[in-house]
Amino acid sequence: MIDPSREQKLSGVPFGLTRSDRIPVQRYYDREFYELERDKLWSRVWQMACRLEEIPNPGDYSVYNIFDQSVIVTRVDAKTVKAYHNSCRHRGVQLVQDRGSCPDGFTCPFHGWRYGLDGRNTAIPRRKTFAEHNLEPGDVDLVPVRSEVWGGCAWINFDHNAPPLRQCFEPAATILDAWIVESLRTEKWYAAHLPVNWKLAIEAFVEMYHVVQTHPQLDIPGMRYSLRPGAPFDPRAFIEAEIEYLRVLSDGMDGMVHANDVRVATGLRDYELPADPTLAIATWNRALNDAVMSWHRERGTDMPDLNDLDAQGFNETFYQCFPHYFVLPMYSSASSYRFRPLGPEETLMEIWSLTRFPEGEEPERPSVPEVWECDDPRWPPIPTQDFSNLPRQQKGLHARGFEYMRLAGQIEGHISNFHRLIDGFLAGLAHERLCRALPAVNVNPLDRSMVEIEF
Ligand code: FES
Ligand SMILES: [Fe+2]
Repeated sequence: MIDPSREQKLSGVPFGLTRSDRIPVQRYYDREFYELERDKLWSRVWQMACRLEEIPNPGDYSVYNIFDQSVIVTRVDAKTVKAYHNSCRHRGVQLVQDRGSCPDGFTCPFHGWRYGLDGRNTAIPRRKTFAEHNLEPGDVDLVPVRSEVWGGCAWINFDHNAPPLRQCFEPAATILDAWIVESLRTEKWYAAHLPVNWKLAIEAFVEMYHVVQTHPQLDIPGMRYSLRPGAPFDPRAFIEAEIEYLRVLSDGMDGMVHANDVRVATGLRDYELPADPTLAIATWNRALNDAVMSWHRERGTDMPDLNDLDAQGFNETFYQCFPHYFVLPMYSSASSYRFRPLGPEETLMEIWSLTRFPEGEEPERPSVPEVWECDDPRWPPIPTQDFSNLPRQQKGLHARGFEYMRLAGQIEGHISNFHRLIDGFLAGLAHERLCRALPAVNVNPLDRSMVEIEF
């Protein structure tokens, strides 16, 4: 058992963990705790502000809102993306909303102050009526927000002292680079309004323990996860079960496994496998990897070497970039999630289906999704199942006598690791110390044990 007392002293935050495998319930609804997260966590982390295909051309912009802050993310030229606080320097009007394009720069809708894409003030109508001290060069320019481009996305950080982005996302950053995630493009994009705390929303997706009960259709007899040591192994039934699993994941998540890859797998239906299950799984993995790679490379897409990823131990299907961004790579494609708090018990979750296209054949700028409630009948089967538990869980947390969640430390350990890392931020630890702890959470969260969070 991990000794929590040391960490508790370290953090001194309200509603700290008294044991690593128990999460105090107030962390999911207490308003002061939520405000502490806003001030000490969200103000210091890298946040995914938009996908780059949302702003393909100079002058395209996308507005990222978080708590009471609004940030303009704009493309200046092919190589440069910049971010600014969305507030006119005259009397504070938000310059733009949502998304759009203004290649000639931003014009305030109130009195017409103008700004270039580089943020510089370019025009003040009736300039001479202002005193010189209100026209200081620099002071009337848009206030920049720190930004970086990585992994096919633009990122912002409100903290000028935070380390560079990649340093905050290791080891996930190196692994996702090996997956060439920057070449993925949006094929579908969904948004969900969830009546739950942002951490509760995330935690519904970061363990496998719920799969048998919540997604019984994924518990397919004969596939690798259901093989028992010593039980008879039927290679034909194994292949059928693997194909069925990919198909159910593909339909159920609308593209978590891309339909192209399911078709490639189905084409290998008659593949001869050895009778030994361990050997059979390895042979099947390689055959499917090879088939997916050659299908996509023939089309001219930027496809990583899946066998190399296997060899490096990078071929897992889920990675977190703390705190709110996830990539779930599978074969040629990936799902991606982003979570944003809207209130102590309210969250916006976005889901992308990403895939690879031959150069020049990438789809148009994706349209911003309508936000669906979590019980909307248009959700595919897998999110429908996950979302059906969430409002009930948030309500259940308010029950008198429910003091804390009880985690299985061997398989739900990521949830504990995630909370104890959050406490490091809430305690106001220096970035240098937080950076030592981040790699414990920027990993594949599934079936993970509790680990020591070393600040
Ligand atoms: S508030 Fe923007 S020009 Fe007046
Ligand atoms: Fe699920």
